[in-house]
Amino acid sequence: QCSLTGQWINDLGSTMKILNVNGNGDFSGTYLTAVTATSNEIKESPLQGSLQRKNQKGQPTFGFTVNWTFSDSITVFTGQCFVDKNGKEVLKTMWLLRSRVDTIENDWKATRVGINVFTRVPLQ
Ligand code: BTN
Repeated sequence: QCSLTGQWINDLGSTMKILNVNGNGDFSGTYLTAVTATSNEIKESPLQGSLQRKNQKGQPTFGFTVNWTFSDSITVFTGQCFVDKNGKEVLKTMWLLRSRVDTIENDWKATRVGINVFTRVPLQ
């Protein structure tokens, strides 16, 4: 239980597809955000991640980066895959969204933080 592979949706309505996780725990996929901090048209963006495999007790931790193709920002997510009391897989994550600012004086306002909860999109 708790495999990252597959399609997920979060509390904002954003979806992501995670492809196969390799033997080192590396994985890739695509992310389609439902919201943006920019006025740009949203486009699907690639993600690259890493699954912690040291723990063999299940409910692993992981991290991934989304490199937005439609903005000059980048988001890193870190989280853990849980199996809830109904046997459903849930990804509890926190993220940091780094926006590009023009000057070092504006650095203080360049980072947003938040949480997202992902559930698996049932197979159609
Ligand atoms: C941008 O606005 O510059 C790129 C899109 C950022 C979307 C953010 S990432 C954290 C949060 N969770 C989501 O699913 N979307 C927003």
